[in-house]
Amino acid sequence: METKTSMGIGNAIDRVEGHLKVTGKAKYSSEFQIENKVYAQAITSTIAKGEIISVDTSEAEKQKGVLAIITYKNAEKLKTSDKKLPVLDVDSIQPVLQSPNIHYYGEYIGLVVAETFEQAQYAARLVKFEYKKETPKINFKNHREDAYRPKEESDYSRGNVEEGLAEADVKLEMTYNTPIEHHHPMELHAIIATWENGKVKAYASQQMIDNAAKTIAKTFQISKENVRVISPYVGGGFGSKLAAKQHVILAIMAAKKVGRPIQLTVTRNQMFTNTNLRQYNEQKMRIGAKKNGTLTALSHETLSHTSTYEEFQESCGAVTKMLYKVPNNLVTHRLVPTNLQTPFAMRAPGEATGSFALECAMDELAWKLKMDPIDFRIKNDTQTDLSNDKPFSSRLLKECLRIGAEKFGWKERNMEPATKTNGNWLIGYGVSGASRGAPYQKTSSKVILERKNQTVYATIQMDATDIGTGSYTIIAQTASEYLKIPVEQINVELGDSLFPVTPGSGGSWGAASFANGARMACLNAIKELKKKLNVGENEEISVEKLLTDNKLDKFEAEGTAEPSEEFEKHSVYSFGANFCEVWVDKDTGMYRIKKMVNVGACGKILNPKTSFGQIIGGLTMGAGMALAEQTRVEPNFGNFITRSFADYHVPVNLDMANIEVIFLPEEDKIANAMGVKGVGELGITSVAASIANAIFNATGKRMRDLPITPEKLIMAKKEIGVA
Ligand code: MOS
Repeated sequence: METKTSMGIGNAIDRVEGHLKVTGKAKYSSEFQIENKVYAQAITSTIAKGEIISVDTSEAEKQKGVLAIITYKNAEKLKTSDKKLPVLDVDSIQPVLQSPNIHYYGEYIGLVVAETFEQAQYAARLVKFEYKKETPKINFKNHREDAYRPKEESDYSRGNVEEGLAEADVKLEMTYNTPIEHHHPMELHAIIATWENGKVKAYASQQMIDNAAKTIAKTFQISKENVRVISPYVGGGFGSKLAAKQHVILAIMAAKKVGRPIQLTVTRNQMFTNTNLRQYNEQKMRIGAKKNGTLTALSHETLSHTSTYEEFQESCGAVTKMLYKVPNNLVTHRLVPTNLQTPFAMRAPGEATGSFALECAMDELAWKLKMDPIDFRIKNDTQTDLSNDKPFSSRLLKECLRIGAEKFGWKERNMEPATKTNGNWLIGYGVSGASRGAPYQKTSSKVILERKNQTVYATIQMDATDIGTGSYTIIAQTASEYLKIPVEQINVELGDSLFPVTPGSGGSWGAASFANGARMACLNAIKELKKKLNVGENEEISVEKLLTDNKLDKFEAEGTAEPSEEFEKHSVYSFGANFCEVWVDKDTGMYRIKKMVNVGACGKILNPKTSFGQIIGGLTMGAGMALAEQTRVEPNFGNFITRSFADYHVPVNLDMANIEVIFLPEEDKIANAMGVKGVGELGITSVAASIANAIFNATGKRMRDLPITPEKLIMAKKEIGVA
């Protein structure tokens, strides 16, 4: 019976690497025991804009154990961009210590290498810098005149929004604000780097191995073949580890200079300033509909910030282009360069923040129309993506809303706000739709079959990563499914650039890509073994018999999966809905999430247990967005006031409600051969909107600035009058 539960996909098996993790045997980047290793400590700037005019290393150099001090004065010359504001991507160069110029508070300005960690830390404090200061631009809202149209995916329109608004019986204009947030995975960014004979070996906590290798190769101007990146376990990333950041380059630079392996850990404090952030978005929404609820216009204009040296834009408006059937649609994004580090992708970049604005705006208009917000969404549902005229490969948004409403008990909701109470508590129900692209990318994999007596063991290799999501487990399940051997006989090896190339973990493409890649390797192995025996492809023969008949003890095969033409002809998304019940204290504005029901339609579920984990993580992060998460910037100096978990608040178990997660059965064969779509980022998308909408239902107050603190809530005015 035991083998049966660990066969194939779709079963809620435990994580195959779970035992390694709980016993501390799963090694994270900084845990590799490398002989002769020394430690580096990065030094960061204490001004936000200006120039270093002098560096004094004399005191630091005298300290015991100090091996090297690197600043812009003696750093090796790296590839730098010749473009103004190049777009930051996952494989961009990451030059560091290349000039005396300072672009933001906390920028790396030096590195100390010493025999011990403590020696490096101490000496780092003794390096003295003098600056010529300039006035930084910190708050983008004070520099609107600098706003420019970014290079990528910035603007979109169909129809004419002004005409659409003119046709509307009811229309609204609102602005929503989402603050700077940080990823803060539990595992700090870290690297152990060696440079030997022109070759780099880096144990580095990265989500995308191949792109990390590309960044390192391009920045040092060496061939990618000379770069090996190893990242078998990653303790969370949420986008912050998509690209190899500057600390990776710093460590390699130091390894080259000192001739010994270098360990460099980015401190929790430095993770505020040096591993990117989710940008502050000011989103102006205009929305209009006919009396019967038919949308006539939807406009989504986002103003945000980038750094003064690179461009990154979170596409908040992407979701507004495709989610509802609206003939007149406008989406714009504008950026103001400021003296903060470059923002970058954070879990569901664009959707998490954009859906907050869109799904609150939908709720606001539904209320003005005196329509149930679920009925309003269903009325404006579309099976075609109007932004590109492609049909959706599958879209169960309506079903998510209906089934969720049933499970949640939506019919108990009062339309009129502030009418459902329990003692001092005001009770509100809120809903939000969710969508997140289900990208799927070219993925290669290798399978090594080994026969020992009558048992076949398989090893699957690919450069995929497991960022806590369950990649090891679902890959093992996939191999089990197609080789028809138990999961216990499968060994999965990930996170090494020596293995076949995958897109890595990001953008919710991991599971679909890795599983389909592993599938192809397994199917190819079987096909090749059958061919050698002149056996028909469709004949049912066990892999054990195939090896035996071929007189083979070992056999290897590779396979590659990639998106089909059908995939390209469709819009491929995961859909969902989140339902939330909040209780707000009438006097203090303190509130509690009492219950959440999340429904997702995200293709074939490879493992319900790991998928639940993904959604629960997303819901928690989404609740963090609504309740507490916010990185505060000092307005004059540009440093972050929130510098640790003592002041950057995230939800704890007590904040999280009874959570019910439901996956609708779905197999989207257009998405890919296995019918798998992304789960990871769907969970966070629109949690914040469902909470804000529930708070309106509880109190009659529209909370358009995240996070919704009790202080803001108690100060807000009721807005329950109908237009
Ligand atoms: Mo995700 S923000 O693509 O790790």
